[in-house]
Amino acid sequence: MASLLCIFLSGFLTFLTFSPVSTNAVVKRYQFDIVVKNVSRLCHAKPIVTVNGRYPGPTIYARDGDRVIVNVTNHAQYNLSIHWHGLKQFRNGWADGPAYITQCPIQRGDSYAYDFNVTGQRGTLWWHAHILWLRATVHGAIVIMPKEGVPFPFPQPHEEAELILGEWWNGDVEAAVKQGNQLGLPPNMSDAHTINGKPGPLFPYTYAVEVESGKTYLFRIINAALNDELFFAIAGHNMTVVEIDAVYTKPFLTDSLLIAPGQTTNVLVLADRPPCRYFMAARPFNDAPIPVDNKTAAGILQYKGIPTSVQPTLPLLPTPNNSAFANAYNSKLRSLNSGTVPRSVDRRLFYTIGLGTNPCPSCLNGTRLVASLNNISFVMPKVGLLQAHYFNLSGVFRQDFPDKPPKAFNYTGAPLTANLGTLLGTRLSRVAFNSTVELVLQDTNLLTVESHPFHLHGYNFYVVGRGVGNFDPEKDPAKFNLVDPPERNTVGVPTGGWTAVRFRADNPGVWFMHCHLELHTMWGLKMAFVVENGNGPEQSVLPPPKDLPLC
Ligand code: C2O
Repeated sequence: MASLLCIFLSGFLTFLTFSPVSTNAVVKRYQFDIVVKNVSRLCHAKPIVTVNGRYPGPTIYARDGDRVIVNVTNHAQYNLSIHWHGLKQFRNGWADGPAYITQCPIQRGDSYAYDFNVTGQRGTLWWHAHILWLRATVHGAIVIMPKEGVPFPFPQPHEEAELILGEWWNGDVEAAVKQGNQLGLPPNMSDAHTINGKPGPLFPYTYAVEVESGKTYLFRIINAALNDELFFAIAGHNMTVVEIDAVYTKPFLTDSLLIAPGQTTNVLVLADRPPCRYFMAARPFNDAPIPVDNKTAAGILQYKGIPTSVQPTLPLLPTPNNSAFANAYNSKLRSLNSGTVPRSVDRRLFYTIGLGTNPCPSCLNGTRLVASLNNISFVMPKVGLLQAHYFNLSGVFRQDFPDKPPKAFNYTGAPLTANLGTLLGTRLSRVAFNSTVELVLQDTNLLTVESHPFHLHGYNFYVVGRGVGNFDPEKDPAKFNLVDPPERNTVGVPTGGWTAVRFRADNPGVWFMHCHLELHTMWGLKMAFVVENGNGPEQSVLPPPKDLPLC
């Protein structure tokens, strides 16, 4: 029945597209007021920074091909900017949002209209504050529907819901971060995990979604946590993964999924269990020898008509350090379409990820913890890098970010605890327009191994390979998947392992790349690419908008 209806509907919609269509893009307008609001969780009330007083913030709805204008007005005590995570922003870094990379932050009392086109993308993405740790509470979903008349490549779900996974601190997050930085140590861990801003029945406030027996639901899952990779499962129900980071995947069934900060995952869930109440739960995956907030967030999948007095059952999540599950899960991710994976490589990059310590006389141990790529801890500039690039301002950044680490070593051997100093610098890597880039991200055992979700702005990349231990440039490339690798904007580098990605540098501008664990970003685990303009008519950075915030 359902599939018949689908065929009928898609046929009908295809017919519709034959009627004359206006070439003017539809414009979707949103007003985001950044306001402080009192919110209470775990019996702790505190003022938090929000969009329009909501936590999580409002969802942006758009369609592939739309123009979106979000006017952000800042009424809070922090200067800030908003990033549209995963939107490619072709030639239009001005609307990308990372503070001091593509713009200066929006000052209190000021507004900036992020104006961008959604082109060739559909699925679930998200937006978040991109300065300090404000994204703890300033975040929300972006839902992009396919072009009118284009169906999903899977059965049309009956309904859909967004599930935003996050972290909650009882105290003021910025105060904790400031204190951590003064000591040169990590700030306090979060006190709970949340689903749509709610931690679950152990801590009042529980998110619940109602389903009808026999119907299929699309859940758009977003990991908005600051520092924790998460497992997610629904008691009694399998999930069919159909999309990651707004790219369709070959569907596969799983009882649990793994999602890193920055990533999104769309799943179909068929409500085919005895009508009851089932917990959905999220809890960290952590296979490194470091402490983590291990609390489980719970929400409820509630069959229609079941009284709320019925006690739900908990799902069985993989054990917190289950690397085998993580590896197996990640290897199941394949793009539905083969896409345009670069087969040849113009530029090979090999970046090591490391922790370290630099001298800090006022810090607790006389040193501060830092993080680096190729032993460089990135220093934030005082003006936007994209402006500096566009207007040829000198002295803001260097363009000599090295293509490989200063020296080769056994990256993933025994922990290295001596000579942990890093170089400081605002160093970018210059990339020729339209060149194909291969980047291998190699975790190291400087202080400790750890997994790192890396996010590249302005692009999706293909994840062509990953492995445990040291990347072998002789043997590993032969095993790369150049046929149907997952395409995404954020990828996990396994603990003590490596990940290889490829992309074509066809989007000119300055594009941030960083670990999406806020702790590591803050410690310097970030850099940026300067992608040159091409010579063609539509191959250079657009002029900046008139209201671009100044520093
Ligand atoms: Cu989701 Cu640069 O961030």
